[in-house]
Amino acid sequence: MTQSLENTSILLVISGGIAAYKSLELIRLLKKAKAHVRCILTKGGEQFVTPLSVAALSEETVYTDLWSLKDETEMGHIRLSREADLIVIAPASANIIAQMANGFAADLASTTLLAADKPILIAPAMNHRMWLNPATQDNITKLSARGTHIVGPTKGDMACGEFGPGRMSEPEEIFQAIQAFFTKDRPLSGKRALVTSGPTFEPLDPVRFIGNRSSGKQGHAIARELAEAGAHVTLICGPVNLNDPLGVHTIHVETASEMLNAAETALENDPAYDIAVCAAAVADWAPVDPRPQKIKKTFDALAPSIALKENPDILRHISNHKRRPALVIGFAAETENLEANAHAKLIKKGCDWIIANEVTEGVFGADDNHVIVLAGSTPEDWGTLPKTAIAHRLVKKIQAKFQDLSL
Ligand code: CTP
Repeated sequence: MTQSLENTSILLVISGGIAAYKSLELIRLLKKAKAHVRCILTKGGEQFVTPLSVAALSEETVYTDLWSLKDETEMGHIRLSREADLIVIAPASANIIAQMANGFAADLASTTLLAADKPILIAPAMNHRMWLNPATQDNITKLSARGTHIVGPTKGDMACGEFGPGRMSEPEEIFQAIQAFFTKDRPLSGKRALVTSGPTFEPLDPVRFIGNRSSGKQGHAIARELAEAGAHVTLICGPVNLNDPLGVHTIHVETASEMLNAAETALENDPAYDIAVCAAAVADWAPVDPRPQKIKKTFDALAPSIALKENPDILRHISNHKRRPALVIGFAAETENLEANAHAKLIKKGCDWIIANEVTEGVFGADDNHVIVLAGSTPEDWGTLPKTAIAHRLVKKIQAKFQDLSL
């Protein structure tokens, strides 16, 4: 449902990228919701949309030049951000992301952003190799740790003819994220959450791996709910077929040790986390010696024997970390003795709550799940619910816990 954005003021920075044409639609949606929209168009942005179309849609002067005597006397780059409630960068090119992450003040947009004291939401858009480049990923990690809201990018066909993550989210999605920012009741605002989700794949050789059937639906739903409740969420996820949840900083990994490294880096370097939810189905073992070349069949009926080593336990690592979040929640996937096994896991791993689920056939990839929550002396049987409803109820329970803690 579209809620009015009356009395809200948005500074929209349009940087260079083919997705800039979608920003015109974003302006239209914002204006329709009665937001006040003022725009900065970078030199790159001007290659894709004209100041005239941006001015016509926003019904405001468009700012393009740091050195414009007229603009500086009338408005000034400091006032541009001071007068906004939210700064939105759409599309956010690799260049503007790098400038922001590293404090450059090279033009009007980057100078305004460096001087900004307002929340910032970015909608990255770039070629998938640029997005996946460690330089961009490091910049995104930095921005996310500083509290920048990130929408997308999504996966899809790109203007350059390639396919992958890097497509800017659709204007409607960015608009919804802006609306959520202004209209939500945000009981977990100021809290930081670390979530793991999905399976891990442990390579045997370049084409084969040991994995499991986890879809990531439950973990992703929890990350989304936490973000919607106002928490700043870092999601570390294994290989899944899901889009990154809106407004969640998502780190993609493949193996358990990569998941552990990502969790460790986040715990060590980011501002302290308050909540951790380990929903990932981490592979318990990995091949000791993954082969650099494909293991060949020998036609002598002798299957290769594969030596396995135990993977690190991420939940246990987080529970025992010196910067342990105040509330650590794990899952327990069991095929028998659900409650007893889950309780033993809670003790063994040192987490605060555990959500036990019976992994009967068909649970993996399904939309529903039957869970029992161990979060105190009496187990709570939540029955069978959609995974999204479980996420919603869990986040409500987390909110209640933090309300109690602050009493
Ligand atoms: N977990 C983890 N790292 C691992 C294994 C599990 O972080 N290497 C976490 C899961 O994310 C989950 C909890 O520990 O929150 C329990 O996972 P589960 O697969 O149920 O149990 P295991 O620890 O693997 O034990 P077992 O296979 O013996 O049941």
